[in-house]
Amino acid sequence: MKYSRPKGTRDILPPESLRKHWVETKFRKIVERYGFVEVTTPIFEHTELFLRSTGESTDIVTKQMYTFTDQANRSLTLRPEGTPGVVRAIIENGVKIPNRFFYIGPMFRYERPQKGRYREFYQLGVEIIGEASPEIDAEVIEIGANFFSAIGIDDCLTQINSVGCPKCRPKFRQELVNFLTGKQDKICQDCQIRLTKNPLRVFDCKNEGCQKIYELAPKVRASLCSECADHFKKVITALDQRKISYTINDRMVRGLDYYTKTAFEYISTKLGAQDSLGGGGRYDNLVEELGGPKTPAIGFALGEERILIVAQPPNRVVQPRLVAIIYWSEKELPYAKQLAKELRNIGISVYLNYELKKLRTQLGYANALNARYAIIIGEDEVAKNVLTLRDMESGKQETISYQELLTRLTTT
Ligand code: HAM
Repeated sequence: MKYSRPKGTRDILPPESLRKHWVETKFRKIVERYGFVEVTTPIFEHTELFLRSTGESTDIVTKQMYTFTDQANRSLTLRPEGTPGVVRAIIENGVKIPNRFFYIGPMFRYERPQKGRYREFYQLGVEIIGEASPEIDAEVIEIGANFFSAIGIDDCLTQINSVGCPKCRPKFRQELVNFLTGKQDKICQDCQIRLTKNPLRVFDCKNEGCQKIYELAPKVRASLCSECADHFKKVITALDQRKISYTINDRMVRGLDYYTKTAFEYISTKLGAQDSLGGGGRYDNLVEELGGPKTPAIGFALGEERILIVAQPPNRVVQPRLVAIIYWSEKELPYAKQLAKELRNIGISVYLNYELKKLRTQLGYANALNARYAIIIGEDEVAKNVLTLRDMESGKQETISYQELLTRLTTT
């Protein structure tokens, strides 16, 4: 019997796993520069958490959750996104400072798999809990933009909008309902349900016919209260001051219920249908909604698989200072073992195979492992106490002393 992976999941093997590691390392470096610390929360949470935060009428909750009952009859759900778990953890553990968190991990959504869309996918996310300034909105957007340019994504468009707050949104909702009244027979069945349950969600619809109708719908920004309008203006000014380019997208309301004020998305022109590299926004009521004190918050999450489609890691993501030791015959193995031990002791990664293979096969392994160098040891090398160093990128070989080898490995 052969087993295959479940639909919509992926095995991440080399060289893809090396590219993934490269992207995650870049992400960590950038967010740590802005004072973020890592958090890890459970892969599954009580289902209720997502109903309360992501939103009962969202596509995620109504169609995409992996929900199951455990042995004690509790309803649990594989997390479809990271924000609710992080907020729950902050409240449950009473954390106030630090208040800037990042996470990297798998999320689960039952969606129709296609390029850039999986049922298990990785998100790189940040959440800032407890800061209300529009300056922080601009800073969060800047972090994503900086990250994309650090990994060679040069076609990223940042779209921004304001989705208002519980004070001004009812007015917009009413205007939208008025606009759609009489057009019910022209919109899809899902949208007809959305219209009765949570009208703003109609903007999440992917149906082209529906989208055409919504092009003429009222704009949320026109209904903002003075506080939300002022906040949006200040975010725009802060983005301009930071020289972050963006476009305002009046139709973008984001597919989750907790957003207030600023909402944004990073779009790539190279991705086709699944063009959102990531998205986020402010969620000033979620902490309170989940039982904490009234606390403003903002964050984003980026889709790692989509990033990997358009990012430009170096052609060969070389394993960090990995060298492969290659030997001609069993006689040189003790020498090779001693050398491996010494190099590992000074922090150099070494691949050494204990089953003697042909030289060409061993070089093939070094190549497949993306090793930076191969060190070749034969009778001659042992007798003269030298080593043959092969640069795996250029194929150039030279004979050098042990001291020279150390200099090379620690400086390149
Ligand atoms: P989201 O827009 O639902 O937001 O997801 C963020 C990103 O995750 C998307 O833009 C996309 O790149 C990626 N993504 C979503 N679904 C899939 C999928 N099925 N396959 C591959 N990639 C996918 C959130 O999740 C919010 N928690 C973001 C946030 C954080 N807002 C505030 N803080």
